[in-house]
Amino acid sequence: MTTVTMTVNGKTVSADVEPRTLLVQFLRENLKLTGTHVGCDTSQCGACVVHLDGVAVKSCTTLAVSCEGASVTTIEGLAAGGKLHPMQEAFRDNHGLQCGFCTPGMIMAAIDIVNRCGHDLAEHTIREELEGNICRCTGYHNIVKAVAAGAAAMGTTSLQQAAE
Ligand code: FES
Ligand code: FES
Repeated sequence: MTTVTMTVNGKTVSADVEPRTLLVQFLRENLKLTGTHVGCDTSQCGACVVHLDGVAVKSCTTLAVSCEGASVTTIEGLAAGGKLHPMQEAFRDNHGLQCGFCTPGMIMAAIDIVNRCGHDLAEHTIREELEGNICRCTGYHNIVKAVAAGAAAMGTTSLQQAAE
């Protein structure tokens, strides 16, 4: 067993894990943060996407021990002050989910797309960038609409924050 310490959703957490423990297992089993899903275990579906030091990663193919000292954000860490993140709001408002299984990974990936590509996202950019996220309910049309709306809303929110 190896002790690993990292910050998850703003809190420092520490646990003894086997060297082979995956980040998704650490989140779900040690921390009981079950919003991060496992859809394939082979880095294809994107249901397990979280942010590692601000960048989207597939937690099913990331070793927990490799995250020593890192900062991880999961879907549970997005809402602040009782308010959903603008990307979460956009998925709700645009019916960007059906069964909801892929949704946490889609939202985490979508925020990463905005961080890298900006707030004004063309449909083809969103579709290309979401290549690593699979929705078995095939609700892609509304997911793409939700990501575009969420991206725009994130722009408005950061402008408001800058003005405050
Ligand atoms: S569970 Fe990680 S990509 Fe599918
Ligand atoms: S909403 Fe069901 S898998 Fe995407």
